[in-house]
Amino acid sequence: MYAAARAYTNIALIKYWGKKDEQLILPMNSSLSLTLDAFYTETSVEPLQGLHEDEVMMDGVLLSGASVAKINRFMNLVREKSGRHMFARIVTRNHVPVASGFASSASGFATLSAAAARAYGMDCSGAALSRLARRGSGSASRSIYGGFVKWMKGTDDASSYAVPVDPAKWPICLVSVAVNKQPKKISSREGMRRTVKTSSFYPVWIKEAERDLARIEPAIRKHDLDMVGKIAEANALKMHAAMLAADPPFTYWEEGTMTVMRCAVHLREQGIPCYFTMDAGPNVKLLCSEADVGRILEDLSEFFPSESLTVARPGPGVDYLKNP
Ligand code: DP6
Repeated sequence: MYAAARAYTNIALIKYWGKKDEQLILPMNSSLSLTLDAFYTETSVEPLQGLHEDEVMMDGVLLSGASVAKINRFMNLVREKSGRHMFARIVTRNHVPVASGFASSASGFATLSAAAARAYGMDCSGAALSRLARRGSGSASRSIYGGFVKWMKGTDDASSYAVPVDPAKWPICLVSVAVNKQPKKISSREGMRRTVKTSSFYPVWIKEAERDLARIEPAIRKHDLDMVGKIAEANALKMHAAMLAADPPFTYWEEGTMTVMRCAVHLREQGIPCYFTMDAGPNVKLLCSEADVGRILEDLSEFFPSESLTVARPGPGVDYLKNP
């Protein structure tokens, strides 16, 4: 059966960094994110008789070799779980603002999970989709839902999935600053592995991440932007500190990353709530109030061209699309 879905990207405020099981993608710590409306992926999956492998078309290009390997592995899992063995035609399109600095793996695997689960007649409940998406990419488990979402680390495949925490119906915004769009030299998978294995700060990171998560949830429920921002910013810094303490040490930051961080601190000195967070890359996201977006863009435009600045708002969860 043909099925198509759409899912949005998310940004973690309490980061997932480190796996205890690389095969099942079980994380060392629980995490929490905000789903965003700025970047989404639409994917259709159609199992077809007569195909000898999955046929994957991404943004108009037929994928082959290494670029399709991750999707093939994921589709093999779908076939194993569903007991249906047909290969599929997969058509996927990323809707990305120009030079946005947003990553696609979260929205990509969330939407592929939803479309594949329906196409192969599998359980399409939220928890089942989140568990399936997790096997493609950890952060994708959270893009099943809109607003603020928590991925509970769980203890095994059955208990590690995301749940919605708050619909984020308050006037918050996320300004993304694309510092450098080049592909990163150390993938998040490799970066996590090295940090878990070698960083003397890693045990502290785990403890702090769980503590930050316990503190951010009540702040979200109270719509306390300052508290949410403060906890998220500190959490990002602690994750990056754990990377600096790895062997060999590494960082994703670049000069532009520091420039944005300084802008945020400067804006706060002027009484404007504005907090930064960075993932496994140099780009920075600023959490702020809708009312302050204009002023923040004005400050950033001193250092960055307008096409590298994107404003995102809370986005919805995964949704099915009608047949064309
Ligand atoms: C820093 O979900 O991309 O963005 O599970 O190996 O595919 P894999 O990793 P991925 O890692 C995301 C790491 C992060 C933090 C986060 O999104 O929680």
